Amino acid sequence: MSPQTAEILAATQRILPEIVGVRRHLHRNPELSGSERETAALVANHLTAWGLEKIQVGVGGHGVTGILGNSLDGPMLALRADMDALPIQETGGLPYQSCKAGVMHACGHDGHTATLLGAAHVLSEMREFLPRPIKFLFQPAEETIGGAEGMIAAGVLENVESIVALHGWPNLEIGQIGIRSGPMMASADTFDLTVRGSGGHAAYPHTTVDPIVTASHIVQALQTISSREISPLDSVVVTVTQFHAGTAYNVIPGTAELKGTVRGLNNTVRDEIQARMERIVAGVCAAFRADYTLTYERGTPVVVNDATVITRIEAAGADVLGAENVTYLETPTMGAEDFAFYLEKIPGAMFRLGVGTEVTALHTPTYNFSDGALPHGIALLARLALP
Ligand code: NI
Repeated sequence: MSPQTAEILAATQRILPEIVGVRRHLHRNPELSGSERETAALVANHLTAWGLEKIQVGVGGHGVTGILGNSLDGPMLALRADMDALPIQETGGLPYQSCKAGVMHACGHDGHTATLLGAAHVLSEMREFLPRPIKFLFQPAEETIGGAEGMIAAGVLENVESIVALHGWPNLEIGQIGIRSGPMMASADTFDLTVRGSGGHAAYPHTTVDPIVTASHIVQALQTISSREISPLDSVVVTVTQFHAGTAYNVIPGTAELKGTVRGLNNTVRDEIQARMERIVAGVCAAFRADYTLTYERGTPVVVNDATVITRIEAAGADVLGAENVTYLETPTMGAEDFAFYLEKIPGAMFRLGVGTEVTALHTPTYNFSDGALPHGIALLARLALP
């Protein structure tokens, strides 16, 4: 263990009770995407108290940024946390359970915000050792997508060389991290399809153009994008998640509505899928005399971790946690994360921070980011900032 790491760990232990308090306060007072007013104010107050520089609020929505070592030369390392909660009713019965009906930190962004605040606090006490300025990004609206894009549009990546974020992960033990270079999480797009036929009496189908039969063929045909058109070595998901049509036993409706998600792990392959869908939908509709409207909404790109940044995280992880606690993730996941927007602009990486295997899954009503994971995340982020 390096001398800096020993000092970081000591500082982390000193500030930990305060950060645990912050985490529980945030857990009790969650705010939905785009409404993170009080969370942002709390973050800004702490950054001010610890003497961060160039603190800005209202960045791309309710985003907050601050810098340590502003007078230092050179491009910055950015550390990012997300702040928003989910529209889920919490049921775990924690003493600090959400006080807001139907809103909770079911993805652990309370833990991410507290961890990054902890790192800012530790580094504010060690700022004379910083080799380059560190920028702290507290991002709103991750769950609804748009928070990262808003902050980027506001210019947060100016003079930033690389960016790092973490996500608490229930399948990893506390004290462990999971890393992976290259694709780590999937792109996620959505589509809305209206198939228009002409309705009529169910007993006389030949007098109608049945949108249900047409849309059923479309559901089947769309599966051939991943099974017949894209290489088996490229992972693509085309999932129809909604199929709405009809109101009666004896009436063929005029329209059918399909909605769904498209995911992938390769941004080039992703760019081709919309055209493939359009061709298949147009072809099936033509075959069955129907018409259609297809709206394809691009969501988040693939999270592609930079190999050099991952090497730095690996080294910092080995120093802080021990090499045996740095796990290399064999496979990406098809979940999505708007951190991908930063990675389109500059090199960076997201890693997974173990919150323990006894914790329930992300986005469930009993999820609770483990306080035990906080010191490991704080120390690791602080370690990345120092030489
Ligand atoms: Ni999340």
